[in-house]
Amino acid sequence: MAMLKNLSALTILLAVTIVLLPRATFATVGIPDCAKGVTGDCGFGFFKIIVLGDTSTPTGECCRQLVKAGKNCHNQFVESIVSSRKPIRGTISDVYRRSNETWNNCSATISVSPPEPAH
Ligand SMILES: *[C@@H]1O[C@H](CO)[C@@H](O)[C@H](O)[C@H]1NC(C)=O
Ligand SMILES: *[C@@H]1O[C@H](CO)[C@@H](O)[C@H](O)[C@H]1NC(C)=O
Repeated sequence: MAMLKNLSALTILLAVTIVLLPRATFATVGIPDCAKGVTGDCGFGFFKIIVLGDTSTPTGECCRQLVKAGKNCHNQFVESIVSSRKPIRGTISDVYRRSNETWNNCSATISVSPPEPAH
């Protein structure tokens, strides 16, 4: 019984560690000030897509935050990751290509459906 209890505590600890680890890693990447309007969840999503080659599609809300931060900011964010020598998927030019695609895909989504009509 005690054995089983320890085992499940360990499993929980392991699961928590796995969930928290990428975020902790992400937080150590120098995030430019201009990206403050992008939430951690969205930023981590973009990080996964651009750096780790994750094939998921960012949500409309995340795209809106990214576009609001601006292309220049987006580039700074990508630069900071590349220069931090974090492990990346593929080559640096793959990262830039995905960065470009993500930006293009996001800004296309945003211009098609404006977030809020002006009052
Ligand atoms: C990203 O896109 C811009 C314009 O669409 C282009 O000028 C630039 O070369 C692209 N960069 C990369 C690394 O593909
Ligand atoms: C951008 O959109 C195109 C077309 O839908 C898709 O093939 C591509 O994987 C997307 N790129 C990223 C980085 O999301």
